[in-house]
Amino acid sequence: MIRKAVIPVAGLGTRMLPITKVVPKELLNIIDRPTIEYVVDEIISSEINTLIFIISQGKGGIIDYFDTNLSLRSFLKERNKPELLKKVEEVEEKIKQLIEVRQKVPEGLGHAVLMAERAVENEPFAVVLGDDLVDAETPCLKQMIDVYNLLSNQTQNHSIIAVEEVSKKDIHRYGVIDGERVGDNLIKIKKVVEKPSPEEAPSNLAIIGRYIFDPVIFEFLKKIPKVQGEYQLTDAIQLMINNGYEVYAYLFEGTRFDTGNKEGFFKTVLHYAIKNPALKEVLISFVNERKIC
Ligand code: G1P
Repeated sequence: MIRKAVIPVAGLGTRMLPITKVVPKELLNIIDRPTIEYVVDEIISSEINTLIFIISQGKGGIIDYFDTNLSLRSFLKERNKPELLKKVEEVEEKIKQLIEVRQKVPEGLGHAVLMAERAVENEPFAVVLGDDLVDAETPCLKQMIDVYNLLSNQTQNHSIIAVEEVSKKDIHRYGVIDGERVGDNLIKIKKVVEKPSPEEAPSNLAIIGRYIFDPVIFEFLKKIPKVQGEYQLTDAIQLMINNGYEVYAYLFEGTRFDTGNKEGFFKTVLHYAIKNPALKEVLISFVNERKIC
């Protein structure tokens, strides 16, 4: 059973500056909801109810967004705004158990995940990055949990990482895996390299921000060295593999968006606009009126 998800949202969002001076990138709106709400929806529809947010200074708005705002509720009641009240309540009631952990110093993704050790309490858990969205019929995390559970019949203490094929020119932005295919969508990982050059990349399979870890990962997160000021999650994954733990890469079904950079954010907005018939109409008329293409 995977009951808990760790959501690291402590990053500074430098690729989205200057807005991220004051607004966490995870709170930027994609049409009608902040990015983080899409991520939370995916987690909740994967039947995980305990969400552990790793935040840092200036990121408290993410917690407040999902927390109960009693004065706003009373204000909307007094002003007789039942529809708005319903909207607010819906968001506030999404997360059954919300845990906030602070990463006091920005020491990388590996360090952020390690901050969750006490809250995770020695059970397998998910890690979901707050700026990677996956639009899929079956939520990406749910697909992974199903594969994780199937594998549990034949092995133990295993972990799963979602991967997708990316082009050579983009490979330097990701953790990249290499291994042996053991199923249609499944690869047993032998090697992971963080942000390799196109020449060094062992394959075109890039890690996206979805992981299911055996809690033994915490032991390895404590052993890895700091590289250029950061503890890399991929280094702990490699150490876990070197010590005989099974880690699988899963080629998920769905479309993934990186909202953490300007181009990716724009594509995400367009994708969700096109999915909405009224907004799709607005977009088509706009393109035609302005003779864009
Ligand atoms: C992180 C991970 C990387 C992974 C990526 C997915 O990098 O370190 O292995 O491929 O997320 O989005 P970041 O984007 O935080 O630099």
